[in-house]
Amino acid sequence: MEVLATGRRREPLESLAANTGAEVLVCDLTVRSNLGGLLEKATSVDLLVCNAALPATGPLEDFSVDEIDRALDVNLRAPILLSRAAGPAMASRGGGHIVFMSSMGAKAVGPSLGVYASTKAALRALSMALRQDLHSVGVGVSVIFPGPIRDAGMWAEAGLPTPRGAGRSRTPEDVADAVVEAVARDRAEIDVASPAPRLGAVLAQLRPELFVALGRRAGADELGAKMTAALRENR
Ligand SMILES: NC(=O)c1ccc[n+]([C@@H]2O[C@H](COP(=O)([O-])OP(=O)(O)OC[C@H]3O[C@@H](n4cnc5c(N)ncnc54)[C@H](OP(=O)(O)O)[C@@H]3O)[C@@H](O)[C@H]2O)c1
Repeated sequence: MEVLATGRRREPLESLAANTGAEVLVCDLTVRSNLGGLLEKATSVDLLVCNAALPATGPLEDFSVDEIDRALDVNLRAPILLSRAAGPAMASRGGGHIVFMSSMGAKAVGPSLGVYASTKAALRALSMALRQDLHSVGVGVSVIFPGPIRDAGMWAEAGLPTPRGAGRSRTPEDVADAVVEAVARDRAEIDVASPAPRLGAVLAQLRPELFVALGRRAGADELGAKMTAALRENR
């Protein structure tokens, strides 16, 4: 495949390009007036992976309105606009696939995750709706739910520990494998997490009061505070 890689910082994109031959497009998803070029490019891709996100973590009253807007723009508005541009164009060429990067935090929401988890839960809804809207025109739509990822990314770079009871963390390669599997097998949803957080997600769905009570006992409040302190700068 020919790859188009996009983000705010040119340097990591250029090094990716050096290894893969990717085309690079520098674009800040919070600058609404600058999205035209990226949305135009989105009409020509056969596989769209909406991966960019801000780790908007902390109690709601800690956020400025600008910080909330930035999280909504990057984590949710951009995926909506990109898939709106890409989906019909894929359909006109006979098929394609869209992958959204959500988070286990959308299924088993902890304290201080209100803004982040709202955007990630919305991606699940978007994916499920588009999967049905675009089925008849040959476009697959999938959503991936990583738990804490070690070695690289927002969790690892913040130096956060694997939450108590969360089992073994997964790797960036595991996430990449999930994206490939989602496309190859047209999977609706894939969790990239050990059994414990996956069970937590089921519990949160079936017995939310119990999930919250157990989470409190397992130290969810302290973890939320640690995440807030570690990730505040990246809002
Ligand atoms: N790491 C984890 O443990 C974990 C767990 C669950 C879900 N996830 C999800 O996995 C995805 C990747 O996360 P990560 O851990 O790799 O995070 P990361 O290291 O912070 O990377 C975030 C990516 O988003 C891009 N980005 C951020 N703000 C942007 C903006 N305004 N405009 C354009 N691009 C922007 C960044 O590129 P620039 O900085 O160059 O803009 C970077 O490529 C996210 O959707 C995240 O929510 C991660």
